[in-house]
Amino acid sequence: MLKAKVGRDSFGSKFGIIAAVAGSAVGLGNIWKFPYIAGQNGGGAFLLIYLLCVLVIGIPVMMSEFTIGRRGQKNAYGAFKSIAPGTRWYLAGIMGIVAAFFIMGFYSAVAGWTLEYIYQAVTHQFAGRSPEEISEGFNAFIQNPIRPAVWQLIFIIITSIIVIAGVRRGIEKYTKILMPVLLVIILVLCVRSLTLPGGMEGIRFLFKPDFSSITGTSILYALGQAFFSLSLGMGTLITYGSYFSKKENLGVTALEVSFADTIIAILAGVAIFPAVFAFGIEPGAGPGLVFITLPGIFQQMPAGDFFAAIFFILLGVAALTSTISILEVIVAFFAEELRISRRNATILAAGSVSVLGVLASLSFSSLSDFTIFGKTIFGLLDYSSTNILLPLGGLCIVLFIGWYVKHLLLYRELSNSGSIRVWYYRSFIFLVRFVAPFGISAILIYSIFYGGLG
Ligand code: TRP
Repeated sequence: MLKAKVGRDSFGSKFGIIAAVAGSAVGLGNIWKFPYIAGQNGGGAFLLIYLLCVLVIGIPVMMSEFTIGRRGQKNAYGAFKSIAPGTRWYLAGIMGIVAAFFIMGFYSAVAGWTLEYIYQAVTHQFAGRSPEEISEGFNAFIQNPIRPAVWQLIFIIITSIIVIAGVRRGIEKYTKILMPVLLVIILVLCVRSLTLPGGMEGIRFLFKPDFSSITGTSILYALGQAFFSLSLGMGTLITYGSYFSKKENLGVTALEVSFADTIIAILAGVAIFPAVFAFGIEPGAGPGLVFITLPGIFQQMPAGDFFAAIFFILLGVAALTSTISILEVIVAFFAEELRISRRNATILAAGSVSVLGVLASLSFSSLSDFTIFGKTIFGLLDYSSTNILLPLGGLCIVLFIGWYVKHLLLYRELSNSGSIRVWYYRSFIFLVRFVAPFGISAILIYSIFYGGLG
């Protein structure tokens, strides 16, 4: 045979893996969602519960996804088929692909807003506007039927250009540049915020645990947020795991990435809360915190447009390295299962995601009256993926690893065929068999029967 089998694309370095996976994890979830959810749920106490959720559920799920991906050497659906042929476990993979479409739909809409805000900051449009005017400006923007959709399409095109270039020459190459940029920007913003008079109150709010404000709901919020923030339950990390080298230490990588993601969420809090307190605003401002409250705050500080611009660049960069990872789930699936080129797979994936995405954007304008189960298309995509598909996917993943996959296979994969020590093996098995399935079932039941989270 002359035609050699073409190998799968893969990551080329340890740093590349960390940049890509942390890039996926660090996103709007850390900078847009985490601060307002923490703000509404008691600050420091919420942070502690969040850390616990990451440790006992998030990290085990992440390790399980890496294991499935690297062992299966396929996309999120194909990996289940290759490890468990002849069973129906692949349905978990299909659910992940559906979730990827849903999440891309609403996530790319918000990602598009960051481009509008970068544009407005750079062209000094916030200057001299009162907080009320900024709030009205935001509403007028999202209620415009054209503008948000155009920014969203631009965002999807930028994502596609990087994904089309491949795992090593696209995803790895760009996340290796973008993640350090993100870190520098967030540190600059932290310094700015911490040096504001009265800012320390914000730090106290973020770190001082007030357990009286913790309710059952906040625990469930913390778990849902951990899932979303660590990119779990959708096969993103199965797909990325399938590009890891056989030498990669899966357990340590999961620990490092979860640590990095958590640090960035905390830093986002450190960048935001001192500013919020310094200007006497309520910390629990809700989803509008970043797009309405912050621009108002920036306007009251020297060089406000500069800080507003770099803040929204930060948000855009964080969103981009995440949309890359969501689109890749669909692209890997199309390319491998339909046996088409990466290029065609990307065009197909981006095209279909754009249709859904534009419908999500229009939820705030022309389609605002069109609701299903009382939710707009945007709301429904967010709700059903974050609160139902992701936890359900995560549940399947831990049950698959904890109860279906043979111990020998699991041990081999985690220890790289016995070449590294797996000191955490027993705790991992315990978490993945009992703690994670129980915790995840709790969020699921809660969100289905009690109207849910966020
Ligand atoms: N984790 C990202 C964030 O915090 C979003 C994200 C990327 C995601 N890939 C995912 C969420 C897969 C759930 C599943 O913004």
